[in-house]
Amino acid sequence: DRPQALPRDLEGLHVVVSAGGTREPLDPVRWLGNRSSGKQGFALARTAAQRGARVTLVAAHTAGLSRPAGVDVVQVGTTEQLRDAVHLAAADADVVVMAAAVADFRPALRAEYKIKKSDRDPDPVELTRNPDVLAELVRARRELPRTGQVIVGFAAETGDGGADVLDFARAKLARKGCDLLVVNAVGEGKAFETEDNGGWLLGADGSETPLQHGSKSRLASEVWDAVSGFRTGSTG
Ligand code: CTP
Ligand code: CA
Repeated sequence: DRPQALPRDLEGLHVVVSAGGTREPLDPVRWLGNRSSGKQGFALARTAAQRGARVTLVAAHTAGLSRPAGVDVVQVGTTEQLRDAVHLAAADADVVVMAAAVADFRPALRAEYKIKKSDRDPDPVELTRNPDVLAELVRARRELPRTGQVIVGFAAETGDGGADVLDFARAKLARKGCDLLVVNAVGEGKAFETEDNGGWLLGADGSETPLQHGSKSRLASEVWDAVSGFRTGSTG
């Protein structure tokens, strides 16, 4: 990374990035979680700071990453905590990027004490739905005093025989109502826990830009280029 070579196009902006995977406790020592490392979100936060933004990084569980320089970090565990932290920071944010892998479900009950095994088969774990933070942000934006907040979502898709990755992603962009959706093709060793990321950037205006297969910091730069372009396009 060569910070001195980066544009300062995010100067004066407050950007919020969520990163890592949320964890939903079953009991004091166990949780439901996912394999997100947080690397992509941390790269986005670091790059935004290098480009002049004030950055709030809402960090769920990550693979032991160190705090990027010049970034305010709010550490969270569960989806509820992430939701509260993101909404608080988003209230005066110019850009919100939801790179976190948010658990879709959580155990309906959280045992106060460690669950013990016994002679009988265990009870099934009942799950309940988590709030969709990204969709909430899009709804909450209407009430903000300042207009022009840009909201970016991430989607990791595998496709499934019938629909391909881009079909799923287009539908997701429409469903979420965000401005930009970064789409990664996952599975077969792609994206999760790796250094490299590739995919597409879909815009609410129908634009579809392939992203170079490169490092997560390169992808971060491409995302910030797109956000900058989006802001210029919509404000001037
Ligand atoms: N997201 C969120 N809150 C959730 C789930 C997801 O804010 N409860 C955000 C993620 O941070 C990401 C985007 O929504 O930016 C897309 O996440 P993804 O898991 O791909 O979408 P889902 O709507 O959960 O759909 P599915 O997992 O069924 O593909
Ligand atoms: Ca999901």
